[in-house]
Amino acid sequence: MKLVTAFVRPEILQDVKTKLYAHDLFSMSITNVLGAGQQKGYTEAYRGVQTEVNLLKKLRLEIALPDEKVEVALQAISEAAKTGQAGDGVIFVQNIERSLRIRTGEPV
Ligand SMILES: Nc1ncnc2c1ncn2[C@@H]1O[C@H](COP(=O)(O)OP(=O)(O)OP(=O)(O)O)[C@@H](O)[C@H]1O
Ligand SMILES: [Mg+2]
Repeated sequence: MKLVTAFVRPEILQDVKTKLYAHDLFSMSITNVLGAGQQKGYTEAYRGVQTEVNLLKKLRLEIALPDEKVEVALQAISEAAKTGQAGDGVIFVQNIERSLRIRTGEPV
């Protein structure tokens, strides 16, 4: 089992959900986060003052899924999230050592 964690633009949520549902991927967690990538800080005028802004609003999408679903999940997220511009996001894949559904005591 793997954990796919993606940081993406907030406005793609509906599209990414639709694309994941098409692959029977329904279980997920979504969190609003602030983040920065390799562009680091850029400056922008805020109330007339040049301010360092290096944390932008993003969504963190977490999906625990069987190994064989990883590729379709990466494809679905990428297709929904890609504009070709900086800030489209990143995806990380990790191993899950163990999982437990609390109601049943069985692995998720
Ligand atoms: N190495 C990282 N660790 C943790 N979170 C990251 C990392 N890189 C990016 N993120 C998260 O992903 C969001 C989007 O990153 P972003 O798409 O700007 O990545 P990037 O590496 O700068 O790529 P690009 O050059 O295409 O912009 C960030 O705001 C942050 O929340
Ligand atoms: Mg970036």
